[in-house]
Amino acid sequence: MPVLFTGATGFLGCRIMRELLAEGGDEPITVVGRGSTPELQSRTEAAVMWLDGPPLPAGALGRLRYLSGDITLPGLGLTAEERARATDGLTQLWHNAALLRLEGDPAPLHLSNVVGTRHVLELADHAPDAHLMHVSTAYVAGRRLTGCIREEDLREEYGFQTYYEESKYTAERLVRAWASRTGRPVTVLRPGLLVTDRPVPEGLPGQPLDILLRIVDAGLRNRTVRTSSLAAFVKGGLRRGDAVSVRIAADPEGTANLVQAEYAARAMVRTARAHSDRPPALRTVHVTHPHNASADIVLKALQVRYPRLSLSVVPHIPDPTPLEKLVAQQGARMIEFSAQRRTYDRTHLLEAVGDLPDPEPIDEAYLARACDDPGTLVPA
Ligand SMILES: NC(=O)c1ccc[n+]([C@@H]2O[C@H](COP(=O)([O-])OP(=O)(O)OC[C@H]3O[C@@H](n4cnc5c(N)ncnc54)[C@H](OP(=O)(O)O)[C@@H]3O)[C@@H](O)[C@H]2O)c1
Repeated sequence: MPVLFTGATGFLGCRIMRELLAEGGDEPITVVGRGSTPELQSRTEAAVMWLDGPPLPAGALGRLRYLSGDITLPGLGLTAEERARATDGLTQLWHNAALLRLEGDPAPLHLSNVVGTRHVLELADHAPDAHLMHVSTAYVAGRRLTGCIREEDLREEYGFQTYYEESKYTAERLVRAWASRTGRPVTVLRPGLLVTDRPVPEGLPGQPLDILLRIVDAGLRNRTVRTSSLAAFVKGGLRRGDAVSVRIAADPEGTANLVQAEYAARAMVRTARAHSDRPPALRTVHVTHPHNASADIVLKALQVRYPRLSLSVVPHIPDPTPLEKLVAQQGARMIEFSAQRRTYDRTHLLEAVGDLPDPEPIDEAYLARACDDPGTLVPA
């Protein structure tokens, strides 16, 4: 089963790659990604080998072939000869690469996530026997806050919290149109917000939670807070004193669907295997946790990293402190992500993954490990 894969150097992609390699077999897996092929090879191997994941059969890395390419370029920037080589006999095409950015100019998000997907679909036209595995996100549900999202749902009437969500929604629309035009088999995988409790060393693909932690770190270091040693203080290191209270304006009953990246990767590869035997159709799968995590759990976990920081969620803050203003400004998007009460139907997921057990609960202890400071870690 020759496979082509985009985004293998990313947080999720390297875990999917590890699962694909662990399945065994000797068919080639072509990794398309940025940088020269030696750079791409060394980044992919570093990311895959660092993971605990399932053991790899001897010589597994030898199955990987590397092609320097960029999804924002027509034909992914591949030469005609490279494209012919990459698509020859292809049976599975994983489109996982994307730009994840919650703020700023929408143009790069459109280019990577919408135009990039179109380029991948054009490549798929040259691989008539390939099953397309398109990695989307549970957040295509956008601003819809309540109700149970069915896996077939793809609606825009609620609007979107970020252009990232909208770009992934539009990409899914393109994929649906392509599947209905070509009759080709497609699986759309929609993970929740991915986490791991193994802190990721600098230089390896990090998790979205790191963005929140960087916001808090930066906020604590920001001069407008007027206490130069505040960051060290709230980490518990310097002197005795009262905790620094930070209120966050959000829905106190809000939740977010956090799902272990290791579970998501395994469930995706199982789904690919299950769907490869089914008649061609477009199937959408929520790769989500069965239970949402409450915003409260996330805050409690943050307090393990910042023991002197006392965080609370309140509906409204009439008199924000400078630090609260900073957190509200810089963390607005992350805060919005945990403002949902909606749930996700997992019928197609459970049909596809068979006896794969549901992931462990994401509780305070799990998130405390996820928030641990990776500063002293080095890649193995
Ligand atoms: N992380 C989450 O919580 C989450 C949740 C739901 C869905 N997803 C989806 O999961 C997929 C993977 O996300 P991730 O968390 O692994 O993100 P990530 O760590 O940022 O990795 C993104 C991957 O895409 C590649 N990429 C980006 N732009 C590219 C381009 N122009 N050409 C070629 N490759 C490009 C990156 O390559 P470089 O190494 O060269 O940058 C990297 O391998 C995405 O489709 C994302 O939308 C993620």
